[in-house]
Amino acid sequence: LVRAVPVIAIDGPSASGKGSVAERVAAQLGWEVLDSGALYRIVALAAVRAGVALDDEAGVAAIAARLPARFDAGRVWLGGDEVSTEIRSEACSSGASQVAALPAVREALLARQRDYRTRPGLVADGRDMGSVVFPDAGLKIFLTASAEARAERRYKQLMAKGLPANMHDLLSDLQERDARDAMRAVAPLQKLPDAVLLDTTDLDIDGAVAFIVDLVRDRGLAA
Ligand code: DC
Repeated sequence: LVRAVPVIAIDGPSASGKGSVAERVAAQLGWEVLDSGALYRIVALAAVRAGVALDDEAGVAAIAARLPARFDAGRVWLGGDEVSTEIRSEACSSGASQVAALPAVREALLARQRDYRTRPGLVADGRDMGSVVFPDAGLKIFLTASAEARAERRYKQLMAKGLPANMHDLLSDLQERDARDAMRAVAPLQKLPDAVLLDTTDLDIDGAVAFIVDLVRDRGLAA
């Protein structure tokens, strides 16, 4: 019966706007949202705090398996600490990409991600939502934008949060992370044959949200 709960899987590269789009689609539909990238970011942060090297697969997987992470109204908690801002730093972005390449870490987070699938529906964003975590999703979106447009968005996000940012470094970090996320052996970022391509280089968030909500209704996934 749980299988009947509809899922919208939104996958795509860093800073493609997946997070904002997923949140707003979920809000419009009244559905639950899963920001799977935040889980990898929290794992990286928890590992650094515990003094576990980011390439220590067994050590990081043990942290992922008993991660005291919580999401609450857009805020993110690691144990008793609010880490909403810290997990968006470039250090956590890079750390997340490193731990996400470890198969045992991905495995340790699998059941936890599937637990978010509750009525009336779930909007999940990440890299492998449609391929691994929710392969039976009723709608799969591959959300992308040019690397330059994405670097510029990240720049604006960081500035708005008062975090240090440099366009040149952001673009090269982003390209490095894209390459690692797409080339890795396990659950690489990919455009699935059954995913709808949505390029937001010249489309704003409202446009992307409206496009997805229309598709959801066309497919009869929501009223
Ligand atoms: O979406 P994001 O930028 O917050 O993701 C952070 C990192 O985690 C990114 O480098 C890719 C990785 N990730 C992943 O491998 N699988 C997911 N489902 C989500 C994120």
